[in-house]
Amino acid sequence: MTMRIYIPRDAGAVAVGADDVAAALEQAAAAGGTTIEIVRTGSRGLYWLEPMVEVATARGRVAFGPLNTANAPAVLDAMIADAPHPLRLGIADEIPWLKRQTRLTFARCGVVDPRSVEDYRAHSGYQGLQRALQLSSDEILADVTASGLRGRGGAGFPTGIKWKTVAQASADQKYIVCNADEGDSGTFADRMIMEGDPFVVIEGMTIAGVAVGATKGYIYIRSEYPHAVIAMNAAIAAAKRAGYLGTRIGDSAHSFDLEVRVGAGAYVCGEETSLLESLEGRRGIVRAKPPLPAHTGLFGRPTVINNVLSFAAIPFILSGGAKAYADFGMGRSRGTMPIQLAGNIRYGGLFETAFGVTLGELVDDIGGGTFTGRPVRAVQVGGPLGAYFPRALFDTPFDYEAFAARDGLIGHGGVVVFDDSVDMARQARFAMEFCAVESCGKCTPCRIGSTRGVETIERIIRGERVAENLAVVEDLCNTMKFGSLCALGGFTPYPVLSAFRHFRDDFGPAPARLQAAE
Ligand SMILES: Cc1cc2nc3c(=O)[nH]c(=O)nc-3n(C[C@H](O)[C@H](O)[C@H](O)COP(=O)(O)O)c2cc1C
Ligand code: SF4
Repeated sequence: MTMRIYIPRDAGAVAVGADDVAAALEQAAAAGGTTIEIVRTGSRGLYWLEPMVEVATARGRVAFGPLNTANAPAVLDAMIADAPHPLRLGIADEIPWLKRQTRLTFARCGVVDPRSVEDYRAHSGYQGLQRALQLSSDEILADVTASGLRGRGGAGFPTGIKWKTVAQASADQKYIVCNADEGDSGTFADRMIMEGDPFVVIEGMTIAGVAVGATKGYIYIRSEYPHAVIAMNAAIAAAKRAGYLGTRIGDSAHSFDLEVRVGAGAYVCGEETSLLESLEGRRGIVRAKPPLPAHTGLFGRPTVINNVLSFAAIPFILSGGAKAYADFGMGRSRGTMPIQLAGNIRYGGLFETAFGVTLGELVDDIGGGTFTGRPVRAVQVGGPLGAYFPRALFDTPFDYEAFAARDGLIGHGGVVVFDDSVDMARQARFAMEFCAVESCGKCTPCRIGSTRGVETIERIIRGERVAENLAVVEDLCNTMKFGSLCALGGFTPYPVLSAFRHFRDDFGPAPARLQAAE
């Protein structure tokens, strides 16, 4: 009998040896005369256990991890004998870290073969599109609006309103654009889902096309994601072969086609208008708004532009029901958020859960504190433009409004943890430097202000007229906040000012705290 073994092909798992483990298992099986079938999946998102390998049994998939080429033969023996092994983690779905999640968007990630439309369909795939094809445009838009889904790319804008604006625009051609630039520090959910369940993104974009009357879509993927580019291209080709892309999709009157475009490595190309410039073949410079992309977007046509996770949430909303999605969450943050735990953290990975979980729960309980074992001192949530939160704010629930009320943002759901060896003055300097390096240069507060910001914070670090220079940086931050054209210049003040506010002791000549630790 053939034994089926699941090994991730996810870039994160491959980086720690998943390909070598696959080869070692094949070799050990051949040597022992065992017939195995290896299915390459995405990752389940428990990155400290990668490469995590699963074997199909009558009781469900049994997981082992982390594997390497040395321990793979013994793990294979344990799989064959269904015997105990130190790396045996039990039934994968029962692993507590996975079991306590609410996986609506990531339900199939790490489970299915990302190259197989049949496997996707066998796990409820394309049910959302099937339903959407029976509905009118207005009915689809009503579902998306009722779900309460807000854009997962950073700004949290209601997806239903955006789609409705494009649906109401009249034009000879409309476009759907998927923002897969994923530039935020500590984030990897877009990459994971594109590599582990690419059809859910394709299905979400197709539903958007049907809803607003667009026949063409582009997925803009950052160049640093070659595995995701391969996965998306393979899935697009498979969807075309199966009749889910192209003309008369799913035997309906609708047509929809998709192409991947690869970015060239600029953070600002994740900003939607800059992304559109880049897609059109120009340098990524931010466009002034209005006009909104929903009216005048790609090639001057009405365009829906959404993040990967926003599109990936759509199939569940259409198949499981808007109410089922909206029943999760708190306040105006409905549904689930795929949260990415990163930085100096013990259990780093993808944790999808309903909005409302507190920052403390995420970092201390789910994340298990720091990897180094030292106390957690600061957490940056929402990428390089997000605020640094001290432990005193760990009661903040993961919710757009709750974070905004404390001058923070949840952005794309990235949580980056720092221990007590962090120097927050240097982090503030880094925030300004990041802005200076990544600025598209269109507006003065960002282009010049960030460079002056770096210089002034450096003076503070050197201990030069600290109080005066702190006031200069605060003034500069206000100019950037209110005078910048886009959120790169406009939000850089948040990490800088939060570092000032919550970690004031670090600003000045050589912080006493760090000197004492040396
Ligand atoms: C500097 C900057 C970088 C951004 N980078 C990304 C990104 O990498 N991915 C993303 O989806 N949105 C990014 N955004 C947000 C987009 O401009 C836009 O709001 C988003 O693509 C809309 O999709 P959503 O409504 O689904 O979130 C960025 C914004 C700014 C200002
Ligand atoms: S804020 Fe910075 S990145 Fe944004 S438009 Fe102005 S110069 Fe460009």
